[in-house]
Amino acid sequence: MASPAAGEVAIIGSGLIGQSWAMLFASGGFKVKLYDIGQQQVTNALEKIRKEMKFLEQSGSLKGSLGAEEQLSLISGCLNIQEAVEGAMHIQECVPENLELKKKIFTQLDQIVDDKVVLSSSTSCLLPSKVFAGLAHVKQCIVAHPVNPPYYVPLVELVPHPKTAPMTVDRTYALMQKIGQSPVRVMKEIDGFALNRLQYAVISEAWRLVEEGIVSPSDLDLVMSDGLGMRYAFIGPLETMHLNAEGMLSYCDRYSEGMQHVLKTFGPIPDFSGATVEKVNQAMCVKVPSDPEHLAARRQWRDECLLRLAKLKRQMQSQ
Ligand code: NAI
Repeated sequence: MASPAAGEVAIIGSGLIGQSWAMLFASGGFKVKLYDIGQQQVTNALEKIRKEMKFLEQSGSLKGSLGAEEQLSLISGCLNIQEAVEGAMHIQECVPENLELKKKIFTQLDQIVDDKVVLSSSTSCLLPSKVFAGLAHVKQCIVAHPVNPPYYVPLVELVPHPKTAPMTVDRTYALMQKIGQSPVRVMKEIDGFALNRLQYAVISEAWRLVEEGIVSPSDLDLVMSDGLGMRYAFIGPLETMHLNAEGMLSYCDRYSEGMQHVLKTFGPIPDFSGATVEKVNQAMCVKVPSDPEHLAARRQWRDECLLRLAKLKRQMQSQ
């Protein structure tokens, strides 16, 4: 059995992301209380977690040192928010992406928590200064934004409110590392945090290249999946620069003029509508028809790829 010393965590909202967090915390030996507004949601979540953990164990991909049954025994459902957070050292909010709803949850939590627990939101794009506005426990608040599917993609962006205590950031950073995630510190809040800013930069140039008839939608995706993406799974854009010349200084010396020349030709922000959206949609639907079955099957394949990639990354890191 896990050492009870690992601590207790409360998850608020047992949907897709809440389930993933529950599994990750259990993999680190933490006792998890999964809170939601209805019995059905909690029951469904616990069933999905059981199925997923059994699958992971069978395929040799279960995280942590405990077996699936031991990890499952650490997770329980809860329909009372006060009970859910009692004894918790970390609360991870995972309710739908709606500012008013998140504010309501944090206001409720603000009234029942002590001054030690960390209050963390999974929000993808709401700014901490909005989500945690006016809370008495604001020093203990932080955004910990995971990437879908969090069990296979370890990055977590930590984004503080301007009044978040450094200790809150440090504790959350250490906790994320403990459960095998890969935290990054976003020093100051900014729309899109870091990940979505990079993602949107890529999406917008992809869109412009297709819109202008430079490449087809399917070839555009190949540029990433069989080109840039191959190395980006292991090294980032800055290290790529460093390695693609005799170090960073040599890269900037050699290529900065060329990069600036190309960057000046970038077009305006696309509106993602009209003929281009039809063209892109048609191409995507040829590859993956947009009915729920085909989409689900393709997502499952994607997750299988990510799972194997995660294994490879672990092997490569240990070399
Ligand atoms: P979801 O819709 O799958 O789950 C939300 C859960 O919250 C549901 O089980 C719902 O019953 C519950 N809920 C609703 N009102 C509640 C309340 N008042 N108290 C407690 N529980 C309540 O949503 P999902 O995808 O899990 O997203 C959760 C958060 O994670 C959002 O902020 C989202 O932006 C963020 N996120 C989502 C990612 C994704 O790809 N789905 C990736 C990274 C972050």
